[in-house]
Amino acid sequence: MSAMNAGILGLGMAVPDRVLSNADLERMVDTSDEWIMTRTGIRERRICEPHETTGTLGSLAARRALEDAGVEPGDLDLVLCATATGDYIWPATACIIQDRIGAARATAFDVSAACSGFVYGLATAAAFIQSGTMRRILVVGADTLTKQVNWADRSTCVLFGDGAAAAVVGPCRAGEGILASSTGSNGAGLDQILLPAGGTRMPVTPEAIERKLNCIHMKGAEVFKFAVRIMGDACLDALAKAGLTPADVDLFIPHQANIRIIQAAAARMEMPPERVYVNVHKYGNTSAASIGIALREALDEGRVKRGDVIVSVGFGAGLTWGANVQRWCRDEPVQRS
Ligand code: ACO
Repeated sequence: MSAMNAGILGLGMAVPDRVLSNADLERMVDTSDEWIMTRTGIRERRICEPHETTGTLGSLAARRALEDAGVEPGDLDLVLCATATGDYIWPATACIIQDRIGAARATAFDVSAACSGFVYGLATAAAFIQSGTMRRILVVGADTLTKQVNWADRSTCVLFGDGAAAAVVGPCRAGEGILASSTGSNGAGLDQILLPAGGTRMPVTPEAIERKLNCIHMKGAEVFKFAVRIMGDACLDALAKAGLTPADVDLFIPHQANIRIIQAAAARMEMPPERVYVNVHKYGNTSAASIGIALREALDEGRVKRGDVIVSVGFGAGLTWGANVQRWCRDEPVQRS
């Protein structure tokens, strides 16, 4: 018996309205638009208002994905939320989203894989569907890292933005959908990017706050080198599992962390710029949301049609990494040029 294929049936995204530009950051820390643009490619990012959270953005993206897929919330078997910035340490933000969208029948849990979360989520959803255990899964990738940024640290505060993306995953035709994934982790790299305080190991004490240990700590250059190496490795591994090569790829959607990382990964894949999707200039690094947001915008721009091979790849805290190879399984409206 051949396994059921799983593909994305609908996709939604949500970002806060509030824009924080490089000019705004120039007024907050010793930086410049020129530095941020040349070193990262980021022009602006979206920032949550206090009432906006991973749960509210994730729920908005989820509703849009359900509508796009023509699937009712009550049909969902699973709500999986990939996030590093849940509304609470526990319970899971997936439970918040499940309640807000009315997915009464669904099991709900979070996946903690930082910026690799959307890739991990799609790989997990595909496995559940391929095994025949579930039929309709909502994968949400949502993060609000600006709530954990040290706004006095210019080496991190310019990088991140808030956002959410959601995909409804379900059975699709043989040969279409998520063809292969390659995921991995290396806990030895834990100190390269982490939030030191706030878990059970280091509570948030006045001293921890004083030392900004409740904010993102990152060894930027080490993360950069890791990202460049691992993105190519993960893509090539996932493509080989799917029996494909980089030449077969119609659209490459790397995690939107830094334009230089994206360009290095694309070069490793020998991917011409017109096949690489970039929107890091608009949103910065939205962590688990970035690949889903990029895919949604690529669809809206008419850059995807049924049968296209799409490779998405992420890397993040953990350390974690992963790539999905999919053959797009939906008919998309023909764009008027
Ligand atoms: N404005 C001006 N100068 C700055 C800024 C800034 N915003 N930030 C750092 N600098 C300075 C540094 O202080 C340093 O000055 P010095 O030479 O006098 O010490 C100089 O610029 C160069 O710093 P580098 O760290 O060498 O700059 P680099 O070119 O490596 O870029 C960056 C730094 C952008 C952080 C890069 O290393 C990077 O993108 N790393 C990957 C980060 C990433 O993707 N993290 C997300 C992981 S995913 C997740 O799980 C959330």
